[in-house]
Amino acid sequence: MTDAPQIRPAAGAAYSRILGVGGYRPVRVIPNTEVLTWIDSSDEWIRTRSGITERRWAGPEETVAEMSVQAAGKAIAQAGIDPAQIGAVVVATVTHLKQTPAIATEIALRLGCPTAPAFDISAACAGFGYGLNLADGMIRGGSAEYVLVIGVERLSDLTDKSDRSTAFIFGDGAGAAIVGPSDTPGIGKVIWGSDATQKDVISQTEAWDTAFALDGAVNGAGDDTKWPALRMDGQPVFRWAVWEMAKVAQQALDAAGVTADQLGAFIPHQANMRITDAMIKALKLPESVPVARDIAETGNTSAASIPLAMERMLESGEAKSGDLALIIGFGAGLVYAAAVVTLP
Ligand SMILES: CC(C)(COP(=O)(O)OP(=O)(O)OC[C@H]1O[C@@H](n2cnc3c(N)ncnc32)[C@H](O)[C@@H]1OP(=O)(O)O)[C@@H](O)C(=O)NCCC(=O)NCCS
Repeated sequence: MTDAPQIRPAAGAAYSRILGVGGYRPVRVIPNTEVLTWIDSSDEWIRTRSGITERRWAGPEETVAEMSVQAAGKAIAQAGIDPAQIGAVVVATVTHLKQTPAIATEIALRLGCPTAPAFDISAACAGFGYGLNLADGMIRGGSAEYVLVIGVERLSDLTDKSDRSTAFIFGDGAGAAIVGPSDTPGIGKVIWGSDATQKDVISQTEAWDTAFALDGAVNGAGDDTKWPALRMDGQPVFRWAVWEMAKVAQQALDAAGVTADQLGAFIPHQANMRITDAMIKALKLPESVPVARDIAETGNTSAASIPLAMERMLESGEAKSGDLALIIGFGAGLVYAAAVVTLP
């Protein structure tokens, strides 16, 4: 028998946890009254159907990279690490409009970790949970000690202001987390998945190539350019989110061995306040568990919504460091990711 050479396996930390979280909210507030100048609706309809009173839309200087750097700076400071210690930069976004390079590289450069692996992931409103799962795997697998996970969106760039079904929902912003090694479990099993049969219920109206082909300026065929936007079939999304996502949230609790009454916070993706309320009922969440309701002032910021809501709950004192939080993201794909995490 020959002595086959053996590969030394990578060795990582026993567990991982979120060590710091930070957010960035654009300066410009868009109240419902401004939305009413674009669509035929009412403040009351928007509030009762979505729970949204205002949202933030980014200005020209508040780029995907700029908002990410601001949010990440806060997460890094809370984690108390040097940016050079960051072993990977994972950016969840669907609104970085340049195909390549990944915006993660610019963010890594600006933060001071220009040699770290850096890449973007496209998992819409589940992006933060997907990123967290990757970070947990990297840290326990030994390929990074600290991972920066960012959820960032400029959904205003892909919002058709004349579309009644989406114009009032979306907002812009960035949320970031530093995930690092831990002696105790800080991230439960991430329950993630998709329902690809519903891939078309939330999508961009036109792919960039067909959008450009429609562009008279490019092909001389006439001026019928329409900038792509996000289109959503609201009712199937609503039904799926309420019925299927409550089950996924319960699976995340069960996998972590945690019961709803042990939670210090429930932080669902800020999709729609009515979806949140229906999930609370389906999960039989005790009234004593504080629930993130950041959507009221922030709108639906897709990948950014969970870390933004987490930061707000910690800053306001609604939840505290060391508490267990159930997070669940879900959206275009359709895709989802849920987990119980220890708050930083
Ligand atoms: C988008 C959403 C709020 C629409 O609510 P809805 O109750 O499904 O609304 P419908 O499309 O069935 O329309 C109901 C009525 O409201 C009207 N309506 C639709 N949009 C309106 C608006 N912006 N303002 C006022 N009225 C509106 C419709 O015309 C319809 O009127 P009718 O009953 O006289 O025909 C809802 O479907 C939703 O929240 N879906 C989930 C979306 C979501 O969270 N997406 C993010 C996932 S990441």
